[in-house]
Amino acid sequence: MSEFIITGGSKLDGEIAVSGGKNAVLPIMAASVMAGSPCILHNAPDLVDVRVMSEILRGLGAVVKRVNLEGQSIYIDPTTMNSHVVDEGLMRQVRSSIFLMGPLVARMGKARVSYPGGCDIGQRPIDQHLKGLKALGVSFSEAHGHITAEGPELSGVDIHLDIPSVGATENIMMCASMANGVTVIRNAAKEPEIVDLQGFLNAIGAKVRGAGTDVIRIEGVRNVGGCEYTVMPDRIEVGTLMVAAAITAGDIYLRNAVAEHVQAVTSKLREVGTTVSILGKGIRVRGSHKRRPTDLKTLPYPGFPTDMQPQMMALLSIAEGTSVISETVFESRFKQAEELGRMGARIRTEGRTAIIKGVPRLSGARVESSDLRSGASLVLAGLSAEGRTIVSGIENVDRGYERLEDKLAALGAGIIRQE
Ligand code: UD1
Repeated sequence: MSEFIITGGSKLDGEIAVSGGKNAVLPIMAASVMAGSPCILHNAPDLVDVRVMSEILRGLGAVVKRVNLEGQSIYIDPTTMNSHVVDEGLMRQVRSSIFLMGPLVARMGKARVSYPGGCDIGQRPIDQHLKGLKALGVSFSEAHGHITAEGPELSGVDIHLDIPSVGATENIMMCASMANGVTVIRNAAKEPEIVDLQGFLNAIGAKVRGAGTDVIRIEGVRNVGGCEYTVMPDRIEVGTLMVAAAITAGDIYLRNAVAEHVQAVTSKLREVGTTVSILGKGIRVRGSHKRRPTDLKTLPYPGFPTDMQPQMMALLSIAEGTSVISETVFESRFKQAEELGRMGARIRTEGRTAIIKGVPRLSGARVESSDLRSGASLVLAGLSAEGRTIVSGIENVDRGYERLEDKLAALGAGIIRQE
């Protein structure tokens, strides 16, 4: 098992390019199974989750390969697909594989999937996915932990989601793209990744509009083709590196970062005392040794992203005063609190609320990452802590960050991976 060995105390300094978005590329890869000819996805990050999704698509009979020297593009030819059964073992490894249900039914009339895996951050039901697909005409049967979905005839429909689920919005958008007639999704999620998925779907010939608002309108089409598409930058990687600058009182420039995507994070960092400026095609972030406390509540986009909450907790644990975090999106997302406690942080959690009493400095310790973003939180804490921090469980970090340690080391952090 690999670990990160971090020597804290270095100010981050320099410039780094942001990778393509994990949460954008995964649904787009799923959507590619509907394409009528090959697709090339540029700016596709090389992450464990992306590799697993590639394996899943290969298991369905598609040809999937990295095609350029930098390895940032993926070629997918779905025309050779001959199976509707998603490999159970692989599906358990990435929750986003549930996205395959909509596009597979649209393309093949049926799909067999198992209950999804992914990060253990509380109950992650799929009722909104099922409700939406059912409304389009898909029927479901369950046996031995599998769900078989069948929908030989799909018809457009008006769907109102009970909650603006990102995954359910994406699944329904994809499936409805090839239904007969018009589908309207109300109370849709508004995340930038949904806008990116709309961009991809329209590039292969679907007719989707409204993504980024809470009403999405999809006019079903009979046939779609292939395309070349560039995936959006990863806004959570951007946010994580912004906090890395804040927590080390560093000065960094994030090339290709889209300021609009990280407004909620920017606003909180400014409250803490970090200087954030939009410069050319990127964002400059300058941290300060004086960090003010702040309160925050996670919410669907454009609210503060739940995927940035653990990283902010690390930062607030060295603020000059008490901060309160309310986690409203997922039930159990304070796993990092106890580990930060080992490093000297003073954090009390009560249900979905965390109260953080800032301390002047954290001290290096041996800690374990139990999910993707809590892992990132511990790495950030290690960057600012006195002495050495060893973070284990970093396979969780690799699921969603492309060689995080190389990026941080290029900015001057003392971090190495020990295999
Ligand atoms: C996506 C992101 C994940 C992020 C999350 C919230 C991907 C691959 N993952 O996950 O990184 O943390 O959005 O921004 O894009 N829910 C239901 N029923 C459903 C679906 C969801 O009750 O059918 C609940 C979930 O339990 C959770 C909330 O809705 O409490 C939000 O989930 P959702 O927006 O669906 O997140 P994901 O798409 O799983």
